Amino acid sequence: MHSFHSFLCVLAFGAAGASSAPGATLTVDVERPGAAINPAMWGVFFEDINFGADGGLYAELIKNRGFEFPEPMMGWATLSPSLARGTVSVRSDQPFNAKNPRYLRIQSEGTAPFGVSNEGFRGIGVRAGDVYDFAMQVRLVSGAPRLTVRLYGSDGAVLESVQLSDFTSEWRRQAAVLQPKATSDKGWIALIVEGAGTLDVDFVSLFPRATWKQRPGGLRADMVQALADLKPGFLRFPGGCIVEGSHLDRRYQWKHTIGPVEERPLLINRWNYEFLHRPTPDYFQSFGLGFFEYFQLCADIGAEPLPIVNCGMACQFNSGELCALDDLGSYIQDALDLIEFANGPVTSEWGAKRAAMGHPEPFNMKMLGIGNEQWGQQYVDRYTKFAEVLKAKHPEITLVAAAGPSPDDERFHFLWSKLRELRADIVDEHAYAKPSWFLDQAHRYDHYDRAGPKVFMGEYAAQTVAVVSVENRNTHEAAIAEAAFLTGLERNADVVRMAAYAPLFAHIDAWQWTPNLLWTDNLRTLRTPNYHVQALFSRNRGDRILPVVLTELSEGEAKRIYASAVEDQVAGEVVVKLVNATGQTSRMQVALTGAARVAGGSLTVLAADAVTAENTFEVPERIAPQVTPFSPGGGTFALDLPAHSLTVVRVAVVR
Ligand code: AHR
Repeated sequence: MHSFHSFLCVLAFGAAGASSAPGATLTVDVERPGAAINPAMWGVFFEDINFGADGGLYAELIKNRGFEFPEPMMGWATLSPSLARGTVSVRSDQPFNAKNPRYLRIQSEGTAPFGVSNEGFRGIGVRAGDVYDFAMQVRLVSGAPRLTVRLYGSDGAVLESVQLSDFTSEWRRQAAVLQPKATSDKGWIALIVEGAGTLDVDFVSLFPRATWKQRPGGLRADMVQALADLKPGFLRFPGGCIVEGSHLDRRYQWKHTIGPVEERPLLINRWNYEFLHRPTPDYFQSFGLGFFEYFQLCADIGAEPLPIVNCGMACQFNSGELCALDDLGSYIQDALDLIEFANGPVTSEWGAKRAAMGHPEPFNMKMLGIGNEQWGQQYVDRYTKFAEVLKAKHPEITLVAAAGPSPDDERFHFLWSKLRELRADIVDEHAYAKPSWFLDQAHRYDHYDRAGPKVFMGEYAAQTVAVVSVENRNTHEAAIAEAAFLTGLERNADVVRMAAYAPLFAHIDAWQWTPNLLWTDNLRTLRTPNYHVQALFSRNRGDRILPVVLTELSEGEAKRIYASAVEDQVAGEVVVKLVNATGQTSRMQVALTGAARVAGGSLTVLAADAVTAENTFEVPERIAPQVTPFSPGGGTFALDLPAHSLTVVRVAVVR
């Protein structure tokens, strides 16, 4: 690591090895700041795909905690040593909660300890000495049994054991604190009944105490930290195709995701069965991470909320089921109620529900997405109906319109022409393509119509092999291609108002889609080179575009060197981003015209020892930004841009 770092510094300041046109120059016109950059320009796309929510961001460690999966014992196993005699049965009479009615009855004859175990989400990850809050609903049916809750490591070692007793014939919450004595990334938990008797159990739950902001039943702190470190301008949720559902009755309905968690009805996750080559039969949505928690997360990390609602269309890659135009009223009402839930006074029906959940202040939502990746006239018809009502009642809300799944096919162009006529606010473009596409499209927005709708580059990710190929990797090459593309977004920040990589999270043992911005296991979050690229743009956003011109480049450089620059008016700094996507070091003169004095700043370089390099849990920082102090001494200075690199120069400028 250290030696690679030194290598970068030498490249940044030395001329040796540079292979470029002698006069290659980037001119940044510091005197002519252009359009304002949206403070919410760089953001986050969240979808419950790849165990992103359940088994991921939502820190619950028990899978199928309420026995509501269609196979009610999925994730659970009966523990029945040879001398033990007993039965387990799933029932729903006199349930703890009618919205999630199933529970488990454990009947033991008391001949030996008898019970059930839960495997967690691809194992239960716990750290030695940390505090975990166990809770469940219990009802005594007969006898006087004791119940032991025992946490095991992946090797079978007992990590912690606590006893519960004092049960009553009414459902009652029983809680215990577990403090494992060793770390295990794939542990499991057992509920063991001792003595003769019968117990009903439901809503069995285990959370780390150290969730994000220590919220009980909250989010995984390491995963949220990775988001917070991006300084995201917005958070789009809950997806993605999950908004649409494969069928309308499986669409995402935000009203089912608020209120007490026990009352949020379970729904199958469309990524459970979407890919035959990556089936995930144990993937369901508990909605423990629901719309209130999404809004709360946005407030926590300073991101503008961008919820997406179903527009009366199921995923067109699946059933393509449509809600008839005449029946669209309830869908539109859901959108209106969502605005009230987010922004309405506590005296309003939905504002009161927000307040009851602990947030009387409004969430100040300013944007709403109508549908996800829709296409065709059917979408135009439905978008039009939504827009008519929403614009009349809530002109303050910016509406995000869909442009289909491709950045340049017939569906895309059809929708753009219609949305232009409809004077849509902002159009959500999606780009999953080869790294070369991203390089070639770096000038895509230079000639976009400035009078038409704005652009939201809502989902982008370079695919090293092909879209939905399981061979796609988060390589350095892909990240650098994205960086080149992002310079184009930044140079055109007057028309491209927002951008996000997609998807966001993927569990290393439970993913359906690759590549992803962040990989997780049961204990850790891994930052990809693609993450570092988006972070470098987001954390160096600036507030005004500065014009840039590249001149005197060699033929190779002219094709594959990219630049953008911004002014950070608050800090009084200029930030220059340079991408060298060639295979050789490139020596670049940087001229900040109009800068009378340039003071010290920083030089950040993202480079790698191979284009195919990736970060892994074993070597998580193989590719990471290297920051060094930088004092150019004047408005013109030379930089050696390493092969396949992103360089960010930040300097204080006096005009
Ligand atoms: O990001 C994965 C999927 O890609 C999203 O759900 C969808 O919008 C797109 O097709």
